[in-house]
Amino acid sequence: MKALPVQSHPDLIVGFSTSDDAGVVRLTPEIALIQTVDFFTPMVNDPHAFGRIAAVNALSDVYAMGGRPYTAMNLVCFPKKGMDIGILKEILSGGFEAISEAEAMLVGGHSVDDPEIKYGLSLTGLVHPNCIIANNGAKPGDMLVLTKPIGTGILATALKARLLPKEAESEAIFWMGTLNKKAAEAMQAAGASACTDITGFGLLGHALEMAIASKVTMEIWASKVPLLSHVMDMINMGMLPEGSGLNRQFCSKSVEIDQRVDAMLADCLADAQTSGGLLISIPEERLDPLLNELKTREVFHAIIGRVLGPSDGRIVVTP
Ligand code: CO
Ligand code: CO
Ligand code: CO
Repeated sequence: MKALPVQSHPDLIVGFSTSDDAGVVRLTPEIALIQTVDFFTPMVNDPHAFGRIAAVNALSDVYAMGGRPYTAMNLVCFPKKGMDIGILKEILSGGFEAISEAEAMLVGGHSVDDPEIKYGLSLTGLVHPNCIIANNGAKPGDMLVLTKPIGTGILATALKARLLPKEAESEAIFWMGTLNKKAAEAMQAAGASACTDITGFGLLGHALEMAIASKVTMEIWASKVPLLSHVMDMINMGMLPEGSGLNRQFCSKSVEIDQRVDAMLADCLADAQTSGGLLISIPEERLDPLLNELKTREVFHAIIGRVLGPSDGRIVVTP
């Protein structure tokens, strides 16, 4: 396969090269435009919850850049025939709920006749060019903070297999539907060095992208990583999604997992997430201010590791 064409332009601040969550272009010395798009198939049965989760997930890529969502457009794939149009209305109302909470403007959208339902958003966000929080800013000595528990890929697999307890489903829907707005405001106020949201490549995959872009080694403390309840039970029952196995393969060369780390816990760390939290890299001296900003806004958080020295981008997982 030919590599994607890479553009360079004096106003292109963040492009393909750092595996960032969104592209960023300078419009004026004070304003940069963030652009991103994300959509996927339902992972939960409730159409309203799915719509909300898909929108929250797409919005995360603006938040992960330190930006504020400005305009949104719906992306819809839905069968013209054979399905209740009420389902589509529910999906769109769930999405609109998240867009409103994000204080963004819904300005339009596009739909395609497709037997397989898909929904998501195309987004434009704004950020001051000096306040962009990209993947490549993590520095040795930084601390790593995660703002949602992980394990939604494992729970979604169990849900499909009809093995997931109802309360675990509700918990997963709650977290996947939680907007990263307040987490982003907190990290912007405290001055983070780098950030990404945790989605399909899992915690280890996204941390690795950040480590490679920043040319550092990151240490993840496995026992400090917050898991959704029931995740370990479900992994015990063999509910590991295919994507998570691929993530472990992808990571294997650059991720070193200490032998004392439980193998099932290591699987969780690679679990493909839907609409996960932000992974924030913050200088140690600004950690307390960040924790205060998060507490004030009642944002869930856990300190899960730190940045070690410079390297070509590596992850070390310790117990
Ligand atoms: Co992202
Ligand atoms: Co994305
Ligand atoms: Co970022």
